[in-house]
Amino acid sequence: MLRIVNLSKSFNTGTDNEINIFNKLNLEIEENKCTVIIGSNGCGKSTLLNMISGSIPTEQGQIILKGTDISKMREEKRAAYVGRVYQDPSMGVSPSLTILENLSLADKKGERFTLRRLIRKNSIGRYIELLKTLDLGLENKLNTKVKFLSGGQRQSLSLIMATMKHPDLLLLDEHTAALDPKTSNVIMKKTKELIKKHSITTIMISHNMRDAIEYSDRIIMLDKGEIVLDKSSRDVTERELIEIYRIKLELERKVS
Ligand SMILES: Nc1ncnc2c1ncn2[C@@H]1O[C@H](COP(=O)(O)OP(=O)(O)OP(=O)(O)O)[C@@H](O)[C@H]1O
Ligand SMILES: [Mg+2]
Repeated sequence: MLRIVNLSKSFNTGTDNEINIFNKLNLEIEENKCTVIIGSNGCGKSTLLNMISGSIPTEQGQIILKGTDISKMREEKRAAYVGRVYQDPSMGVSPSLTILENLSLADKKGERFTLRRLIRKNSIGRYIELLKTLDLGLENKLNTKVKFLSGGQRQSLSLIMATMKHPDLLLLDEHTAALDPKTSNVIMKKTKELIKKHSITTIMISHNMRDAIEYSDRIIMLDKGEIVLDKSSRDVTERELIEIYRIKLELERKVS
């Protein structure tokens, strides 16, 4: 489904501040599965997702989605195949536009259109049905600007927008990290429901070990740009993952 082949990435290349994030990373992601990536701050999780979505360029290697190398494809073009929800609730949406305008924009992903013709009247019923599934009453706020919504409401909308065209791949970068525990749970459940319903292959980054295990099929741990753990989520426990982090921290403390 998705193959990452010999992917390399550095920042500040050729300067004193050069950091090598990935050196010939290889990874295969199976179709219709939710794969979670965990790992300490700065280990390269978001950089990997950014390269897959095309928001930052790769240096070397290939990103092959359904047999096509997309590593040089423009981000806007890739967006037709790759949906994304960010950690920051204001990132996946346009805050100064209304809910209806945001949904219409998401619906036009990959198409050429003029802003004047943004809203298709005969699509509104479909948007209302989608919003109703969230159970947040957003279907009654179609003309409300998104900046007036709460973080949880925005992330829910973002999730619907990222999945409404049934992308080949969905990228979730700590998309519930900015939410309170209750809202986070609601969004995680909604996420699971949507990816199962539309059979969307998903890569999710999380620092929440419990969510990582509960909502995924496979867990990958990155450390210094390398895969140090790759297991079926059924075969790991929260305690085991926390223990791996503890040992790693202890080792790092001893080295420094
Ligand atoms: N555009 C950039 N320019 C320079 N350095 C960067 C850039 N983006 C990321 N980095 C660096 O690359 C490393 C990996 O960052 P990344 O954001 O991928 O980490 P992460 O695993 O997502 O961490 P976190 O769990 O904190 O979100 C970090 O050292 C970061 O400072
Ligand atoms: Mg990150």
